[in-house]
Amino acid sequence: MSEFIHAANIGDVTDPGKMLVEIDGEMIALFHVGGSFYAIDDVCTHDGGPLVDGDLQDYTIACPRHGAKFDIRTGSALSMPAIRPTLSHDVKVEDGSVFVRIRENGSGPNGNPMPSTTPPATTAHTNPPQTAATNTRSNNDATTETTDRPPVEGQSLTSQSLSEDLVRELLKQVKDPELFVNIVDLGLIYDVSFSPSSDESKQLVSIDMTMTSPACPAGPQLIADTKRVVGTHEKVADVEVRIVMEPPWTPDRMTDDARDQLGIF
Ligand code: FES
Repeated sequence: MSEFIHAANIGDVTDPGKMLVEIDGEMIALFHVGGSFYAIDDVCTHDGGPLVDGDLQDYTIACPRHGAKFDIRTGSALSMPAIRPTLSHDVKVEDGSVFVRIRENGSGPNGNPMPSTTPPATTAHTNPPQTAATNTRSNNDATTETTDRPPVEGQSLTSQSLSEDLVRELLKQVKDPELFVNIVDLGLIYDVSFSPSSDESKQLVSIDMTMTSPACPAGPQLIADTKRVVGTHEKVADVEVRIVMEPPWTPDRMTDDARDQLGIF
C-alpha cells in the first residue's frame, strides 16, 4: 500500500472548496466540505471529464462535460451518464497539512475491496423524454412506401409497412453494451427519414443518432448493429446512420422504461 503524501495545507482550500493536486503522478480532486477533506480521481468515468472543474454542491460534484454526479466521499456515481464510481483515496489531516494516500485500482478504504457498483440514482425524476425531432421526416416522393400505421403486435416487424414507428421498434433490439438498455429508450435516436432507392420496391432509411459522449467507445458497434437490424426489413434497400452531437444527449432524453432498468427514480 502506498504512503500518505502531503497534498496541501488546510488553508489552501476554502470550506466548501476544491483544488487539483498531483499525487504520485495522479491528478486528484481534493475537496474541503463541512470541515473534512476528501480526495477522488479527477476523472469522470463517463468519458474522462475533469471533475474538479465541475459544480460542487454539498458532497456532490457534477462533471462539467455532461453532468454526471459523483459523491466526493466515496467516488460513487450518482447520476447518468456515469455508471461506474471514480476512485476515492484515503485522506488524513495533521499539523495543518492534508495528506492523501492513493488507493490501488479496485481497493477500498484501508486496502479492502471496493463494494460492487450499484446502479446510479438521480435525486430528481424529470419529465418524459423529448427526442430532438421524433416527427421529422424528409420530404420525398417515396412516402407512398411508408405509412404512419403503428406496428402490429404478433406480426413479424420485418414484413410490416415501413414507418418511423416501425424502424424505432426494430431499433429496440440494439442495446448499449455498457448500460444494457436499448438505444431508443436511451433517447439516442433523433430522426428517421426515408428516400427512394433504385429498386422501386424498397426504401433508403436515414437515421440520425447521437451518443452519450463524442468519444463513446460503443459507437462503432451501435452503428453497425443499427444498420444490421433495420436492414433486415424486406422493404429496406440500405441504411445510412449519421452521428449528430447537436443537441447533445442528456439523461432527460431517456424513457421511464430506461430509467426503471437503470434503477433511476
Ligand atoms: S465526461 Fe463526465 S459526464 Fe460525460
